[in-house]
Parts: sequence; C-alpha cells; structure tokens
Amino acid sequence: MHPTLSLAILGLCSFVAAHGPLAQRQYGYGGSNSGSNSGKGGGDDNSSSATATSTSAAAGASGTAVSAASTSGLHGGTVCSDLLCISGLVNGSTVQYVLQSKGTTNMGWMAMGFGSFMSNTPMVIMWPNSDGTMTLSQRKAPSEVMPTVDSNPPRVATPDDAASDLTGTQPKMSFTIPAADNSATSQTIIWAFGNTNPGDKAVDATLIQHLESGPISIDMSQVVAETDLAHLANPATDPNSSSGTVDTPLLPFQKLIIAHGLLCTIGFLIMLPAGALLARYSRTFTNAWFLGHWVFQFAFAGPVIISGLVCGIEAVKKQGGELSDDHKRWGFAIFALYIAQLGLGAIIHWLKPTSWTVGKRRPAQNYFHAVLGILIIGLAFYQVRTGFRTEWPARSGRPAISNAANIVWYIWVVLVPVLYFAGLALLPRQFRMERPHRKAPSDEYTN
Ligand SMILES: *[C@@H]1O[C@H](CO)[C@@H](O)[C@H](O)[C@H]1NC(C)=O
Ligand SMILES: *[C@@H]1O[C@H](CO)[C@@H](O)[C@H](O)[C@H]1NC(C)=O
Ligand SMILES: *[C@@H]1O[C@H](CO)[C@@H](O)[C@H](O)[C@H]1NC(C)=O
Repeated sequence: MHPTLSLAILGLCSFVAAHGPLAQRQYGYGGSNSGSNSGKGGGDDNSSSATATSTSAAAGASGTAVSAASTSGLHGGTVCSDLLCISGLVNGSTVQYVLQSKGTTNMGWMAMGFGSFMSNTPMVIMWPNSDGTMTLSQRKAPSEVMPTVDSNPPRVATPDDAASDLTGTQPKMSFTIPAADNSATSQTIIWAFGNTNPGDKAVDATLIQHLESGPISIDMSQVVAETDLAHLANPATDPNSSSGTVDTPLLPFQKLIIAHGLLCTIGFLIMLPAGALLARYSRTFTNAWFLGHWVFQFAFAGPVIISGLVCGIEAVKKQGGELSDDHKRWGFAIFALYIAQLGLGAIIHWLKPTSWTVGKRRPAQNYFHAVLGILIIGLAFYQVRTGFRTEWPARSGRPAISNAANIVWYIWVVLVPVLYFAGLALLPRQFRMERPHRKAPSDEYTN
C-alpha cells in the first residue's frame, strides 16, 4: 500500500500546483464588452449607450460622449502586456491607437479588439509588408478560430502612417477610429501578437495563430497634457503605462475545459497508474490482488474518466468548435484503448482462456494486458501534456498555464515508471509465489 499512498499525496500536490497558478494568473474574460457603456465616459443621455458603437462611424462620431470628451481636451492612456504596448488618445471625435512591440520577440503582426474576449469582438489587425507599407485588416471571429475579414465593421479604422514606424527593434503601427461612447474610460480590450508575418498584403491574408493574446484593461480617462503626447506616441517606452491585468470570471466553456483536464488527469495519470502499481506490488505478496486492481481500474477510474470525457465534449459544443484536432482524436483513441483494456482484463480474469502452448505457460494475453496498460498510461502522459501546453491556450483563449504544471508533469513522468520498474524487481518473488498454483488447471496467474 506504500506506493499507493505516496502516489495519492503526490497526485494531490500536482493538482494544487497545476491549478493554483492557473487560477491566479488568469487575465479575465467575460467582463463587460467595450461595446456597452460602462458609464464613466458617457454623456448624460442614457439612450446613447447601446447604439453608438454598433452603428456607423458617423453615428459614433456624433454620440454625446464624444462631445463630452472633446470639450475637456485630450484623454488617453497606455497599457502594456508582455509583448506589446497599446496607447489610446481620444481627441474629440477620433481615437488614435498606437500598437508597439516591446522588442521581446520578432513582430509578425499585432492586433487589438474592442471587447473582452475573442468571440464576436471587432478586431483591428495590422502587419508590415516587405515593400515598407502596412496592412490594416478589420476582422471578427465567431469563436476562438482565425478571425475573418469583417466587411462592415461597426467603426471603420484608418491606418495612420505618420504615427507608425516599421523599423527598429520596437516597430509600431497606428490607426485612427471614430470615438465610441466609452472611449475615454477605463475599459477591457483584447490584444494579440504574432511573430510570423503573413507575407501577404491582402486584408484577407492567412494569419499564423497568435503567439500570445488576452484581455487587458486600458484606462483612457486620464487627461493628457501636451508633454505626455510624446509618451503616447511611443507606448513601449511610456513611463506612465499600466500593466492592465483584468480579473474576470471563467466562461462556462472554460470551466468545462478545466473540469475535463482535471478529471482526465486524475483518472488517467493517478488512478490508472495507482491500480497498475497496486497489481504490480501486491501480487507479489498475496493472490487476492485482483480485487483492488479491478476496483481501481474500473469502479474508481471509469466514472472519473467518462465524466472527464463528457466535460471535454460539452466544452467543445458550448464553444461552437469541432472535435477535430490532434488532442481530440488522441483523446477518443485513448478512451477506446481504455475500454478495450477493461474488456481484456475481464476476459483474462473471468473467462480464463488458457495458454495455447503445451507447457501451460502464462497466456500471451496476460502479457499483452500489461503492455497495453503501459501504452495507455504513456499515451495519457503525452495527451495531458498537449492538453495543458497547447490545447488550453489555443482553445480557451486564455494565457498559458504556469510552468509549475510542467514541473509536476516531469516529476510524475519519471516517478511512475520508476515505481513500476522497481516493482518488476519483485518478479522472482511473484513467480515463487505462483509456483504452487501451477498445477491447478483453472485459476493460474489470474486470481
Ligand atoms: C439616466 O439613468 C439614471 C439612472 O440609471 C436616471 O436616474 C436618469 O433619470 C436617467 N436620465 C435620463 C436622461 O434618462
Ligand atoms: C486633435 O484633432 C485636431 C483636429 O482634428 C488636430 O488638429 C490635432 O492635431 C489633434 N491633436 C493631436 C494631439 O493629435
Ligand atoms: C505621466 O507621469 C508624469 C509624472 O511621471 C505626470 O506628470 C503626468 O501627468 C502623467 N501623465 C498621465 C497621462 O498620466
């Protein structure tokens, strides 16, 4: 029982580590959309809020909030994520945004969107071209997929070449857009940064998926003095920039992804290895090991694994995605192998097909059962890793999970095989124990 106990404790730690930082590091989603009026920058006409951002540029420009901003001069602010900085300057009926790379990594394209998560948020995506020009593409996506060109955006953005500079280590790209009701307020926007240039001037060029993205809060309610204008023109070096972290709750589909990740990890990487180790160790001491093995692999792990699978499928359904990437295909394959392994175990134990060989050696299927078990756990290790490293940031649209999960994964992927192969050292003892049973025709090796 010793290994089982230490497994359980380590397992618990792995979840605290994997989940804790995840919960803390969230930049939020699901907060207020910039399309809705947060009240601060709006005028005194309550009815203007819903219409200004969703109608034409002209309507946005004539909104009362805009005139409120223009009478009180310039407003603006700068926010920085780890890869880029964005400044916004509200000047009367127009807002000028500057997106500047911090120079941390090569800049392929940069984008911002007027909302707090990717789905249905109007986005402005910009990239430099090899001929020295830059392309501005207004796009929208129904979910966390590549956004496509929006031919009729709520507000039309215009590239601002004079305020852009595509050279140097901190290239910047600027555009102007008619002000919205909430332009001169603190609001949540989304940003994205890609390090691969589309290599195509067309507004509908294919984008290689962003390197990083997320919601961020920009406060453009601050009064901007003449002397601050230079800061806003170079947001990456603006001493007044804020980090803009926003904390809003997980969306339902993101909660389902987390439940899926936790349940499948518990089922495949804690319960199944525990049941395998239980068999490996206890069968060298007692012939009654099978009950524990059976209970772990089927009665305990089964419901957890099936719930995890269902959560994953539900998350995809809720988000409107498709069950068709590598992680999902592997998921179904591993689940099928798990079911086959349960069936094989049941056949070995209850039907007891005997060996075809004359010497009545241990039947081949018994070895196959052990090898298949190792294969399933091995694949599950791979699957959990692609899940938290690739699938989570790509599908949830949230930042990557902290490196702590990675560290726990490495410890686990070493520890489980070490415990298993250490158990193989007990094989001689197991064979000695089984020897007296060899003459019994029916229940050799399997009781
Ligand atoms: C605006 O809304 C506030 C409360 O939401 C209300 O007290 C006020 O009368 C409204 N003003 C107008 C002009 O509708
Ligand atoms: C603000 O807008 C006015 C009118 O369009 C323009 O003349 C002025 O230069 C702008 N100010 C800044 C700081 O961009
Ligand atoms: C930026 O910071 C300086 C002092 O560091 C301050 O005088 C100025 O008003 C600030 N500007 C804004 C827009 O906050």
